[in-house]
Amino acid sequence: PADLDPETFVELLADEDRVEPRDDMPAAYRKTLVRQIAQHAHSEIIGMQPEGNWISRAPSLKRKAILMAKVQDEAGHGLYLYSAAETLGVDRADLIDQLHSGRQKYSSIFNYPTLTWADVGAIGWLVDGAAITNQVPLCRCSYGPYSRAMVRVCKEESFHQRQGFEILWTLSHGSPAQRAMAQDAVDRYWWPSLMMFGPPDDDSPNSAQSMAWGIKRFSNDDLRQRFVDMTVPQSEALGLTLPDPEIRWNDERGHYDFGTIDFTELFEVVKGNGPCNAERMAHKVKAHEDGAWVREAAAAYAAKHAVAEGA
Ligand code: 3HC
Repeated sequence: PADLDPETFVELLADEDRVEPRDDMPAAYRKTLVRQIAQHAHSEIIGMQPEGNWISRAPSLKRKAILMAKVQDEAGHGLYLYSAAETLGVDRADLIDQLHSGRQKYSSIFNYPTLTWADVGAIGWLVDGAAITNQVPLCRCSYGPYSRAMVRVCKEESFHQRQGFEILWTLSHGSPAQRAMAQDAVDRYWWPSLMMFGPPDDDSPNSAQSMAWGIKRFSNDDLRQRFVDMTVPQSEALGLTLPDPEIRWNDERGHYDFGTIDFTELFEVVKGNGPCNAERMAHKVKAHEDGAWVREAAAAYAAKHAVAEGA
């Protein structure tokens, strides 16, 4: 497909058509999609680590089975998204190399530790809840393969969010120690979950272009507000308090007001200075290196069979 001039492209998008891999598109549209889809995929794969940390220590066989299914889902989401990125003419091995060398990012939220079992509940309820809020609009993204991948991903995220809520429900209605553990996890994961939505709109370099091209349907702050509005009533149902004394319903706005987010924390974590950045990347690189033999064997098998079938 050829590079399309942005003006013609915006007219084409006006018909609300989907852009497909073989369509002409502006090089910058392709570039920003590779950037976002690759980093989305990286986030899913790195996101397996915090929760995976608790698979061998889940409190029951039921919780262990659910957590294993969830972590497997995240792996699948990552592979799905790498496939969507590859429709844009990039090679997954190169994307993974860019992740390992720090040239591409992954979501800040996965650089926080999972200190107790309750963190698995807080991640499911808050992190997957935030992910759903961000990913449902992406089902209507202008790029076909990405929007279709999101339909499948969102169905599985709903299960992730519900199981997280149920873990916190069990703990918050358990012993005082369990209740305190649930509250501590929510205290630690609330603000970093709000940061998942990105910098404020007036400090979001990609938003204007992504919104003009139908990639981002709502701004970072709009989706953050939507997440707060959805989550506050759920926290009341759980009997847990969100660590922000400024949260209160604002009738005029029709939304919850909430406190000021410390975005320097987001920028520091994105720069590599979060609690677990080094650990997450070291684990990821080691797993990739340990898995090299599998990739080599699969490639040798494919080559042998290609010859056999006279390809
Ligand atoms: N963590 C890491 N980097 C972040 C970030 C975060 N929470 N928020 C923003 N950034 C980066 C952006 O990638 C961009 O850097 P880049 O130009 O080098 O890519 C820079 O900060 C400025 O941010 P912008 O708002 O200008 O960037 P975007 O328009 O791309 O918006 C986004 C950021 C909202 C994360 C958008 O990229 C997006 O919607 N991505 C798809 C969804 C996604 O990646 N979610 C991550 C979580 S996946 C997940 O939760 C898995 C679930 O199963 C648990």
